Amino acid sequence: MKLQNKVAIITGAGSGIGKSTALIFAKEGAKVVVANRREDKGQNTVDEIKKQGGEAMFIKTDVSNWDDVSNMVERVVQSYGEVDILVNNAGVLRMGPLTEVNEDDWNYVLNINLKGVFYTMKKIIPLMIKQGKGKIINIASIAGLVGFEQIGPYCASKGGVIALTREAALEYAKNKININCIAPGVIRTEMTGMLEDEQTNSYYRLQTPYPRLGEGEDIGYAALYLASDESDFMTGQVMVVDGGWTIK
Ligand SMILES: NC(=O)c1ccc[n+]([C@@H]2O[C@H](COP(=O)([O-])OP(=O)(O)OC[C@H]3O[C@@H](n4cnc5c(N)ncnc54)[C@H](O)[C@@H]3O)[C@@H](O)[C@H]2O)c1
Repeated sequence: MKLQNKVAIITGAGSGIGKSTALIFAKEGAKVVVANRREDKGQNTVDEIKKQGGEAMFIKTDVSNWDDVSNMVERVVQSYGEVDILVNNAGVLRMGPLTEVNEDDWNYVLNINLKGVFYTMKKIIPLMIKQGKGKIINIASIAGLVGFEQIGPYCASKGGVIALTREAALEYAKNKININCIAPGVIRTEMTGMLEDEQTNSYYRLQTPYPRLGEGEDIGYAALYLASDESDFMTGQVMVVDGGWTIK
């Protein structure tokens, strides 16, 4: 098993990519902390992990709230003594033309997608420095790399996640903390509910050279590599998992 006895915090693991990642990590022996804003969904992920014989706990957390993040990490340390892996996956999307985005929309998306990543890293990196090792995987998006219409705050937040990943990776490489990000293409999750619409679905499929859309597991297995010892010499990178969207 690649993550035997490692303690992994995964934010937003109540659904989609985070849930798939949580199930994969647990199968690989990790003790998984599901840090989600929604209790029903987070608890559901924990129940599924336990059903497959794994170890997991749910901690209700809003990643955009410093006290929540701080209390969550302290509870993890009380329970497990350490944090080996952090996956910053929690994220939200709001759609609309940039000129119609109001300040609430902007703050909502940026506070969760970008400030949340800063908060968890701020709290957990000092622990990883003490431990002498750590793995951080930030879930960005290809929307942080190439242009997308109608999702301005989201694009800005994901570009920010990529920049922050490089900054932190450079700062903490000497402490053997690997900080990388994954840029998923279009993945079928609750966030991409618009894929239920056949016309939208075929548009996105046509944009994706590989002949299907992505699934949560496609990202979960990339995260597994970045969380494992096998990726020790890799830091500050953007791993693009997009079925070829960005190579066109
Ligand atoms: N689905 C895609 O096509 C796609 C593409 C690129 C990147 N991503 C990124 O992948 C990540 C996961 O998204 P997903 O597609 O699985 O969507 P999703 O909606 O299924 O999952 C997002 C999860 O984050 C949780 N969450 C939202 N706000 C939170 C907060 N403040 N605190 C804690 N948890 C919170 C939600 O409850 C949900 O469980 C996001 O960062 C998203 O931007 C998704």
